[in-house]
Amino acid sequence: MNNSLQAVIFDLDGVITDTAEYHYLAWKALGEDIGIPFTREFNEELKGISRMDSLDKILALGGRVNDFSLEEKEQLAHKKNEHYKELIQKISPLDILPGIQELIVEIKEMKLKMGLASVSKNAFTVMDALRLTDQFDVIVDANTIANSKPDPEIFLTAARLLEVDPSHCIGIEDAAAGVDAIKSAGMFAVGVGSVQTLYKADVVYESTSDLSFKNMVELFEKNKK
Ligand code: BG6
Ligand code: MG
Repeated sequence: MNNSLQAVIFDLDGVITDTAEYHYLAWKALGEDIGIPFTREFNEELKGISRMDSLDKILALGGRVNDFSLEEKEQLAHKKNEHYKELIQKISPLDILPGIQELIVEIKEMKLKMGLASVSKNAFTVMDALRLTDQFDVIVDANTIANSKPDPEIFLTAARLLEVDPSHCIGIEDAAAGVDAIKSAGMFAVGVGSVQTLYKADVVYESTSDLSFKNMVELFEKNKK
């Protein structure tokens, strides 16, 4: 029992649903507005980090860090968020990514605890729209924590609220910053996406439909030996 798996903690955007794409589209539009176009490759750096940290990275990319006051930056972040909120308006349970609902069922069948660790201030809105809020034992979002991923705080907070030691948890992430956060929290990291980006994870599946709970648990247990 000492080394056993007791909880699975999910990231939201890009793992449970494809809102990572909507964050990208909204930032891309804002970047173009202020003369800072960027690629999907650069967008990987924005995944998993807070709204303001994302804006700072975009401004740094364009060499415009000192061009805006704090108030103007807040207006830019607000504008991005208004666009993002428009894009997520039609989200429904049909937008849960393939394989996720099955994974949730398997986790519950094994009587494990389940948490969400998302640095998004929109996490509850999205979870409610997906009708998933009640299925999770704990939801930790941007409002509960002081430090965004890659800081481990959000995963550690979820584990503490679930009353589980981090070493008994699996964390699932689509962002490099998120994988860093899981590893720094002392958890087993499952990546969803490309190995090039998520190489620090303990195992990487190309997409959510490739997630195999059986395989994940086997690797988690092997890792403990
Ligand atoms: C993370 C996303 O989940 O939430 C980031 O991966 C996003 O791309 C961050 O910037 C903050 O989201 P929000 O909804 O608070 O702007
Ligand atoms: Mg994510």
